[in-house]
Order: sequence, then C-alpha cells, then structure tokens
Amino acid sequence: MQDAVEKWMAIVQKHGQSHVFQFWNRLSAEEQQQLAKQVQSIDFSQLASLFEGSEESVDWSELSNKAQAPDAIRLNDPNVAFSAKDAFDCGEQAIRQGKLGMILVAGGQGTRLGFDQPKGVFRIGPVSNRSLFSMHADSLRAATRRYGVSIPMFVMTSPATDAQTREYFAQNRNLGLSEEDLVTFCQGTMPAMDAASGKVLMESPSSIALSPDGHGGIVAALDRQGILQSAAARGIEHFFYAQVDNPLVRACDPTLIGYHLLSRSQMTTQVVSKRFAKEKVGNVVSIDGRTHIIEYSDLTEEAAQRTHPDGGLQLWAGNIAIHVLERSFLQQAAQKSDCLPFHRAMKSVPFLDHSGDVVKPKAPNAIKFERFVFDLLPLAERSIVVEGNPAEVFAPVKNAEGSATDTPTTTRNALVQQHRQWLEQAGISIEENAKVEINPNWALDAEEVRQKIQPPFHIQVDTYFA
Ligand code: UD1
Repeated sequence: MQDAVEKWMAIVQKHGQSHVFQFWNRLSAEEQQQLAKQVQSIDFSQLASLFEGSEESVDWSELSNKAQAPDAIRLNDPNVAFSAKDAFDCGEQAIRQGKLGMILVAGGQGTRLGFDQPKGVFRIGPVSNRSLFSMHADSLRAATRRYGVSIPMFVMTSPATDAQTREYFAQNRNLGLSEEDLVTFCQGTMPAMDAASGKVLMESPSSIALSPDGHGGIVAALDRQGILQSAAARGIEHFFYAQVDNPLVRACDPTLIGYHLLSRSQMTTQVVSKRFAKEKVGNVVSIDGRTHIIEYSDLTEEAAQRTHPDGGLQLWAGNIAIHVLERSFLQQAAQKSDCLPFHRAMKSVPFLDHSGDVVKPKAPNAIKFERFVFDLLPLAERSIVVEGNPAEVFAPVKNAEGSATDTPTTTRNALVQQHRQWLEQAGISIEENAKVEINPNWALDAEEVRQKIQPPFHIQVDTYFA
C-alpha cells in the first residue's frame, strides 16, 4: 500500500492537489483505503484541462445562431414517410422478438423537489400513491404481459442513490420484476473543484467532494460494468431510455420504437412542441445537418424568440428525454472515452478548509462537471426526432409543491387527466371531483380500457383500476 500511496501522492502533487492527502496521517486504515480508492479513480490531467477550459470550448451563441428546427415526424402530419400504424406494428414486432431493454436513469438527487431520498421512491400515484419506480416497473410489466416476452429494466443509480434504491427494490420484491429483469448499476463520479483556485474540494478528511458525472456517464458505466455485452448476449438490440421523473412515459412505446427501426435510426428522440420560447426544456435543433440539444440555459434569447411568419416558434422542439438507442451505437460510443464533452455548472458545495473545518458557502463556489447523454445525438449518422402529444408522454415531477411548473400536483393531475380521458372515451361517466388512476397492468391504453369496462358505468369516488 505504501508504494502505491507514494505514487498517488506524487501524481496529486504534480497537479497541485497535494491537499487531498493533508489529513492522511490522522485517518484510520479504512479511511486511508477509501481515500486512496477515490484518488485512483480520478484522472487528474483531465481535471486540470477541464479547469483550464481547454476541453470545453463551445460557443453557445454561435450554435444558437446556426440552430434550425430539426426534421421531425410531426403529429398529424400526412406527409411522413411511415404511418403511425406502420410504426406501431413494427415496434410491437421487435418487442415481441425480445430485442428491447429499458433504461431508466435515476442517479440525480431530488434537490429541487426537496426530497432527500432517491427520486424514484417519491410517491406520485394520484389514487394508488405508488412511487415513481413503481409506476415505471408496472408500465414495463404491462408490456411484458402484452408481448409475452421478458424486457429487462436497467436502472442507473449514482453513489448518492445506489444503496437506497437497491434496498427499496429488495424490500418491495423488485416491484414485480424478476431478478434477471432488474439490473441496477451505478454511474461514475467527478470531483467538484474550487472555482477560484482549481483545487479539488474535500468533503471530509478522508473523502473528496464527488458528485455524479451526469446522465451521460451512462455510456462508460454500461460498458465498464459489462452491461452492453450481457445485453447483446440476451439478444437486445435497442434500448428504450427514460428519466425516472416522468411517470407518464409508456415503457417501450411501440410507436416510437417502430419509427426508430423503420428509419434505421441510431438514436431517436421524442419531443413536444414548446409552449413558450423560454420553456425550461432542452431545445432539439439541427446544426449543419446533425441533431443537437441545446439546454434552455445555453440557448440565446434571440434564437429562443425567433418565429415563423405565422407566429410559431422556429425552435419549437422541446426535449422530454425519451430516446431509443441502438445498442451497437452505444458500444461504438463507449470505445472512445472522450466521446462526450463535459458541461460545467457552478454550484454551492460545502468543503473542508485548511484547518479541517467544514465551510458551507452561501454562494456558488465550485465547478461541477457533467456529461449529457443527448450529446450522443450529433455523433449519430442517423438520428430522428418524433413529436409526441405532451398530454400522453410528458408530466415530469421536478419542483417542490408551490412552484409554477412540474410539481407533484401537476404530475398527478396529468395522470388523472389521461386516465379520465381513456375512461370517458369508453363511455364511462365520472364525477367532476373524482380522481381516477389506471394501473397499466389493468389496461395499457384507451383501447384496452374499452375492452375491460362496459357502459353504463358511473364513477363517483376516487378509483384505482388495478
Ligand atoms: C432534463 C434535460 C432537459 C429536458 C428535461 C426533461 C439535461 C441536462 N436536461 O432536464 O433537456 O428538457 O430533462 O424533463 O438532462 N440523472 C442521472 N445522473 C446524473 C444526473 C441526472 O441519472 O448525474 C438523471 C436524473 O435522475 C433524472 C434525469 O437524469 O432522471 C434528468 O436530470 P436533471 O439534471 O434533473 O435534468 P433536468 O434539469 O430535469
């Protein structure tokens, strides 16, 4: 151990980060081991160039100027190459053949939501009070039931959510998923750096302040943990990708998968039409013939406000973070460790000062580095953009109750609204104040509701169909 430590001490010293070992002699053997492990996992040269800014030289203003609306399969467009019916049939066939897996990214912490457990544990079912994880697992089980095939769910956690997520699944019998169909894997981390000095921040004498490396860390994590290889061995050719915060997503939506397959797309993105210019979603755009996503915070005001003569937004396509990814495309990406750029964000990160006291900064003091999965888009030779109806595909829970958008209440209302519509289309009447919720294992869509329930039927109180 001593030799190895001396080697690591030399490396940190070379990069002006010797303070990492400042409290080394006071640490227990276990703590020393933990710190040594962290130090080994960090690429200090990369960190130095990230801090210098040599790795990120994106000119957002130039990209915003060049950004055009993407070519997209729009809702109700009669001129599309494939009909929604063709796409649906093609998607169903691929699912039946066992070619799909589902990725759920759940590594973020629910900071904005004010929830101190993994966000997936947050209870969102409007009547059932099911958790976000439970909603996604039910949706996937419903697809499994309908297509008579096993579809694995790959849940990406981060060190902050991993243990609690695993415990949650174990305590809840994997939410009905079989052992082999639930694969939980943890993403990597990046150190937070003091924005003024470029020093790596220490969280405690034995630990560097590490945070998740962004959902783009999934490419390396899938590869590192052999998941792409084992998925290939199972015959999985495509992944349906969704975020844990959106319970409206239909797991392995056959229509989206079908469009992806018919277009031979390597990476497909579902979008919704933005409601207003500065809506807080990523902007899906085309730049020099490639698809890119520019976060709302990076798009210039001028580009966001550009309109067509009819008043419609030019950059209309909002990212809802639902993708279909070809496995072989992910494998190619994983071969190049630097295929995804890092984005920097200024954050307030508590740290240990020279005397070993914890400082809680009042203003952002640190740079965090994250990779975004959607930066894979411009790398794809073939990518498509498909518009979805927001009422059917997008109701994320992001913010605490009382905020203007994306709160638990807005998400629950969207779920009730969708299920109310399915029931009303089947001829069922519902009291205005009664909440309804449908478990996809009871009915997966409006058509299945029609087969399950016959009018006349009147719903007077909150009802959960399960
Ligand atoms: C994200 C998108 C935005 C899109 C919106 C739709 C980014 C940068 N922005 O915004 O374009 O319009 O979703 O809802 O993604 N996660 C991890 N590990 C991480 C970081 C995040 O697994 O290291 C997961 C989170 O658990 C969450 C998802 O990724 O499921 C989104 O993360 P978040 O940082 O909250 O992005 P948003 O700001 O919501």
